[in-house]
Amino acid sequence: MRVMAVTIPRSEQMKSLFCRSRRAIDAAPRASNSACMVQTLIIGASGGIGHALVQVAQARGEEVTPLSRSQDGVDITDQTSLAEHLDGLGPFERVIVATGALEIGGAAPEKSIKAVQANEMMDQFRLNAVGPALVLARAHQLLPRKGRSVFAVLSARVGSIGDNRIGGWISYRSAKAAVNQIVRTAAIELARTHKEAICVALHPGTVATPFTAKYLGRHPAVPASEAAQNLTRVMDGLTPAETGQFFDWAGKPVPW
Ligand SMILES: NC(=O)c1ccc[n+]([C@@H]2O[C@H](COP(=O)([O-])OP(=O)(O)OC[C@H]3O[C@@H](n4cnc5c(N)ncnc54)[C@H](OP(=O)(O)O)[C@@H]3O)[C@@H](O)[C@H]2O)c1
Repeated sequence: MRVMAVTIPRSEQMKSLFCRSRRAIDAAPRASNSACMVQTLIIGASGGIGHALVQVAQARGEEVTPLSRSQDGVDITDQTSLAEHLDGLGPFERVIVATGALEIGGAAPEKSIKAVQANEMMDQFRLNAVGPALVLARAHQLLPRKGRSVFAVLSARVGSIGDNRIGGWISYRSAKAAVNQIVRTAAIELARTHKEAICVALHPGTVATPFTAKYLGRHPAVPASEAAQNLTRVMDGLTPAETGQFFDWAGKPVPW
């Protein structure tokens, strides 16, 4: 009799892996989890990339908790708001922070250091660096203590100091550089208690979303659906040994 080789899709392999590790540790699994779904939290689910990530995760059969400011009132810069929405949630095998902005309150990114304004720079840090830090401050509760998990923060290649060759956009760039350091530092601490957790900063590529609408010009951009597939593939492939790093949409490390 001929035996046919069956290729199990990567998503099913990941699900089975998560399920096995969860079954091993959960003496009393949550009631709604009888089918052992991967639990995914996406903050910024109303955004171009965040929404596409929700769709990809749902299509893979993950149980998704989408949260956003416009639909749920979650303000990532406000600790009280985060406590209201995140207390008691989890554990999630995947947490993605997909919030952010290049232009806040109508303030366009600076073309020169001479254009820096204190309040506008503070707004950039509050949203793009402090916000993800406040969610990372809850990573110990949000992620399972045992078994593989991923905590990904959407950063941007322009936050790379080593890769900065053209200048400009100083507030956004430096807020993203700060969030990279925050991710790195949190990952080191998290690894002490959550041995299989993978905490990373990800660059999604240049993506056609409301975020880039005014700035793309003729610059090529991928649709959000493609970016979400790329990011999901990268998250699937990461190992705990790679925690604390900064990767692009293709899974290539980005210099700090
Ligand atoms: N698009 C690109 O080409 C690109 C490139 C590099 C990096 N990135 C990064 O990828 C991330 C997502 O970008 P995107 O293109 O998807 O942007 P987007 O479509 O403009 O979405 C931005 C998201 O951030 C949320 N947000 C803004 N301020 C918030 C706050 N105070 N509290 C909670 N949520 C807040 C928005 O929520 P509401 O709409 O509900 O208010 C929305 O969900 C950002 O971090 C960005 O820096 C994007």
